Amino acid sequence: MHIQHPKLTHLALLPMTQADIPQIMAIEVIAYPEPWTEGIFNDCLRVGYSCWSLKQTNTNSLLGYLIITIAANEMHILNICIDPKKQGMKLGTALLKQAIKLGEAMRITSCFLEVRPSNKAALYLYLNNNFKKVGVRKNYYPHGKGREDAIVMKRRFQQGEIKLIKLRS
Ligand SMILES: CC(C)(COP(=O)(O)OP(=O)(O)OC[C@H]1O[C@@H](n2cnc3c(N)ncnc32)[C@H](O)[C@@H]1OP(=O)(O)O)[C@@H](O)C(=O)NCCC(=O)NCCS
Repeated sequence: MHIQHPKLTHLALLPMTQADIPQIMAIEVIAYPEPWTEGIFNDCLRVGYSCWSLKQTNTNSLLGYLIITIAANEMHILNICIDPKKQGMKLGTALLKQAIKLGEAMRITSCFLEVRPSNKAALYLYLNNNFKKVGVRKNYYPHGKGREDAIVMKRRFQQGEIKLIKLRS
């Protein structure tokens, strides 16, 4: 899938492969305070989650990645991440918009995700893209020696809204 971006060219969202995992891990360990392990990424590929790599195809560099699951007509974003060297360039927005497009194309009704209250960049990214806070999961994330709550956010997709309107009329 080609990705439109105001400044960068040759951007594409491609199915993640095992060969991408070393580049993904190099980003993951600096992007998150509690990074996933290589085993978790391998498991996501093995069980068939929807796993995507954001690449600049002319240089074959990996700029970010997206992992989603789809069940019972709902999408769940498990991991969305941009290389810290490329953050603040609207790539996270492009990746999230692509996830929303995928959901709409599959006629999914809504999307859920969890985010740390301390993760201001992610929180604003989601709020700017019509995600709403719908709950809190207590002590969800490891945080140093303790735990941190997760804010649960939800966005309804276009088709979901259309379907609901049709059902009511
Ligand atoms: C969250 C993340 C994906 C955002 O990607 P990004 O490419 O840096 O974000 P964008 O450039 O598209 O910015 C989108 C919005 O995020 C917010 N934002 C981005 N960086 C921010 C920062 N440092 N502080 C506060 N808000 C920030 C802004 O609201 C911005 O929109 P605006 O510029 O119109 O105000 C990226 O920071 C990241 O990969 N973080 C590490 C992994 C992570 O935490 N993932 C989310 C897990 S829930």
